[in-house]
Amino acid sequence: MTDPKKYKELQYLDRNESQYGPSPKCYDFLKTVTINELSNYSREFAFGIKSSLSKMIADEFKLPEKQVILSYGSEDLLKQIIHYYLDRKEKILIPREAWWYYKKVAYEVGGFNVEYPMGKGFEDGVATYTYNVDKMIEIYDREKPRIVLIASPNNPTGNKISKEDLYRFLDACRGALVMIDEAYWGFGSMENDYVKPFLDEFPNLVICRTFSKYFGLAGLRIGYAFTGKNLEELMNYTVRYLGFNQISEKVGAIAYKDLEYYEKITKLMQEDKEYFYKEFSKLDGFTPYKSYANFMLVDMPHGIRKDLNKFLKDRNLLIKFLDEEAFKTETRITLGTREQNMYLMDSIKEFLSKK
Ligand SMILES: Cc1ncc(COP(=O)(O)O)c(C=O)c1O
Repeated sequence: MTDPKKYKELQYLDRNESQYGPSPKCYDFLKTVTINELSNYSREFAFGIKSSLSKMIADEFKLPEKQVILSYGSEDLLKQIIHYYLDRKEKILIPREAWWYYKKVAYEVGGFNVEYPMGKGFEDGVATYTYNVDKMIEIYDREKPRIVLIASPNNPTGNKISKEDLYRFLDACRGALVMIDEAYWGFGSMENDYVKPFLDEFPNLVICRTFSKYFGLAGLRIGYAFTGKNLEELMNYTVRYLGFNQISEKVGAIAYKDLEYYEKITKLMQEDKEYFYKEFSKLDGFTPYKSYANFMLVDMPHGIRKDLNKFLKDRNLLIKFLDEEAFKTETRITLGTREQNMYLMDSIKEFLSKK
């Protein structure tokens, strides 16, 4: 049982940030930053590339460098893509059970949202949300949106779409620009082998990723995306001729190569997810959902939300009690360190024992 006195400051388990922090090699590099790196623009544009980071990623995926675009976090990618391609009165197709930001961004350009619902089922005995591809295709055919968005793993539900389902869906909506938001890539699977074949086959596809989540570098604000061949305008639009942030890029590249560090953390997190599935399932009225991300959606009895929120806050624990159309009784818990996770679970149990 963790002593609450140990946590003197608020623990933000509500923002899907990394509680372990990035690879220590990132700090080692930051201690060596030179004056030139601070005062000069990056010189890489002279070599016909945007940056060494986009080149490194492109080489790994055997793609031309220009097909890897960079941005100020993947939030910025989303914004740029939608602002660039969505005209007034045009539609974007998004999941109903999804990140609230998707619902807002189309309105910024006078477009509007059409939503597809997720299904529900079980995976390995754990409740899960599912992508219902037949339904998605039916809605796509009816609505003919300009942009389609899939998030995998999805926030806040934590589920992902299988490669087979993704292929089937992409095949059915070749007329649209399709964005896959993979901000939570890495936690549940490190699969990459579909990226190049899918980009080759679907030239209007963009796969967005970020250094914020798996790599624990949200403060650096670096997102990147793989773009299909037809999206030359997007590739040009997102280029910054004076370069990006060369220090952030170098930190990103160092993190990207330190697989050993991140695999260790992901393994701990996976064990903690198993612990959460088991423990939440034992509590009356609680349902944990399968998570391929660094957070978990947990359904809880509605009646305890207010008191539980206060109880946890008094113990310096913040989790996200969702209150939106698709989620009225669910909370989203960001996976913390092992100690934070145990502290949270012990605190919830203590709250329930006092009821
Ligand atoms: C689903 C999803 N996509 C994208 C982002 C944006 O992340 P960033 O801009 O830090 O890359 C977030 C942030 O929480 C998210 O939840």
